[in-house]
Amino acid sequence: MTRVAIVTGGTRGIGKAICTTLRDKGYTVAASYAGNDEAARRFSDEFGVRSFKWDVGDHQACLEGCQLVSEELGPVEIVVNNAGITRDGTLHRMSVDDWDEVMRINLGGCFNMAKACFPGMRERKWGRIVNIGSINGQAGQYGQVNYAAAKSGIHGFTKALAQEGARVGVTCNAIAPGYIDTDMVAAVPEPVLEKIVAQIPVGRLGQASEIARGVAFLCAEEAGFITGSTLSINGGQHMY
Ligand code: CAA
Repeated sequence: MTRVAIVTGGTRGIGKAICTTLRDKGYTVAASYAGNDEAARRFSDEFGVRSFKWDVGDHQACLEGCQLVSEELGPVEIVVNNAGITRDGTLHRMSVDDWDEVMRINLGGCFNMAKACFPGMRERKWGRIVNIGSINGQAGQYGQVNYAAAKSGIHGFTKALAQEGARVGVTCNAIAPGYIDTDMVAAVPEPVLEKIVAQIPVGRLGQASEIARGVAFLCAEEAGFITGSTLSINGGQHMY
């Protein structure tokens, strides 16, 4: 039986590339998504990957969603915590809701998914957790105190959970993408984005497939000695 992977936020952007890359490598993949039914339906039809709707920021919904995936596809052995949102704005304009939502989904989602899937991984003595952090969690970013804090939190979460999983065959790693050609980055005002791209030594935005390749590397059978690490894939923009 092939290993089952859940990719949160898996029907669009970086998550979509992660799903198709893992599927091409022979994993059984489930994509979770929160809102866009139409995109999820198109994704599932086109790529033959099942999509499941739940909010990763909702603890109970994660427990129930992961339970459903394991009943339908098999025990979940790989979790890729990719789901994330931005609510950018400078601190003096940022609302409490903008702070709470980003923390709830981006960081809370990692906790909720790990709570749902880590116990089974421990029992079976094998697991892979890959958390999608961000260059902006490593370096900070103008207009993103919420997002940078949540992503920075993901990097700490990764290192702590890696220590708990190490003796039971469960690795936990992070990828810190730079600016990738997705809808999220396309939402950055054009003059600002131009300034950002000018700071990328490779001279372009990254492709979602370039992040997916890193995820597949960390999920492999042969990656059992890699844990607690952060793989930065950012075109040289930030060398950490
Ligand atoms: N890098 C360099 N300069 C920046 C900047 C950035 N990231 N963000 C803003 N600035 C500059 C602007 O160009 C502007 O400079 P000038 O006055 O010289 O033109 C100045 O700072 C003020 O910016 P705004 O006029 O845009 O200020 P605002 O209050 O209207 O808007 C903002 C603030 C909503 C934060 C807006 O600047 C913005 O959206 N910035 C982009 C933030 C960002 O990078 N988000 C990343 C989203 S993608 C992502 O998060 C994925 C990932 O993991 C990498």
